[in-house]
Amino acid sequence: MNRRRFLNSTVAGIAVCGLSSSGQGGVQGGGRPAVIASANGLRATEKAREMMRQGADTLDAVIAGVNLVEEDPKDTSVGYGGLPNEEGVVQLDSSVMHGPTRGSGAVAALESIKYPSRVAKLVMERTDHVLLVGEGALKFALAMGFEKQNLLTPEAREIWLKWKRELSPQDDWINPEDRLPESIRDRQKKKVSRMLFNYGTINCNAVNDKGEISGVTTTSGLSFKIPGRVGDSPIIGAGLYVDNHVGACGSTGRGEANLKTCASFMVVEFMRRGLSPEEAGLRVLKRIVENTVEPYLIDHNGRPKFDVKFYALNKRGEFAGTAIWSGSKYAAHDGAKNKHYEVSYLFKREKTG
Ligand code: GLY
Repeated sequence: MNRRRFLNSTVAGIAVCGLSSSGQGGVQGGGRPAVIASANGLRATEKAREMMRQGADTLDAVIAGVNLVEEDPKDTSVGYGGLPNEEGVVQLDSSVMHGPTRGSGAVAALESIKYPSRVAKLVMERTDHVLLVGEGALKFALAMGFEKQNLLTPEAREIWLKWKRELSPQDDWINPEDRLPESIRDRQKKKVSRMLFNYGTINCNAVNDKGEISGVTTTSGLSFKIPGRVGDSPIIGAGLYVDNHVGACGSTGRGEANLKTCASFMVVEFMRRGLSPEEAGLRVLKRIVENTVEPYLIDHNGRPKFDVKFYALNKRGEFAGTAIWSGSKYAAHDGAKNKHYEVSYLFKREKTG
């Protein structure tokens, strides 16, 4: 199913565009079961679907899926290999929700533990609390048998050092390539040319053939954040929300925007009122845009300089990925095939260059 739809409303005086130009946006699935994740979760959706096929619980399935990314040193936005805070320390956030038992658990600013999603599940299962943070979260993880390890990979350390030395032209930090002859310098510079500020995260949600729904979000958070900064990912209702009667939604992108709007909760509430996952996601993204008034966060057209993405599914197994800006993808397994889809979006990103 692929419902094309264009929203006629405006946001801050700007026309809102409905679907991606490729036409791959819209509502997908609908024949239960389904698994949806952020674009970095294609292996996660495959793994979760396979486990569900073998009878695994939906929460165990999505956690096993995101564990593949948490342990992957090449993903610099999650778990081991995640980019550190401004002091070079990796601090992780995660939350889980289990629809059938209405359970929730979360950890924030957790250091030295590779699988924060597993710790979040244990908070849900083994305590009467929902959220543990910092030192307390680490002590809890150690008590549960997790082992401490250094999560800062050499690649993430190099990216952090580059960020540090480019903070100010007036300090004593230098780029090693600046010592090199010009011809070699250009080659070296390309090696570390990547977007430095990174809100990357993985969210994964699933519904099985019995209509049981669960979700997980896990992240190293905003790169080079102030130590102790907590984003939306471990906050129930902001970076993740599951209602077993309705559906699930999780998010990636600027956590502060989701924290201020209880965004994932609102997406699920709009689905409860009958909106599709796509309509609900776009509706909440519009709310975020309307509430973004800080001059440093908006461009000359009044549009956010950042992105927020939602990954939503409902109890029927319909799903959609939505974003403020065009051009990104999400991963989903519709029960038959596992692949990337284009997000539906509010604004078409202009081509540069
Ligand atoms: N959405 C991830 C974060 O802001 O930390």
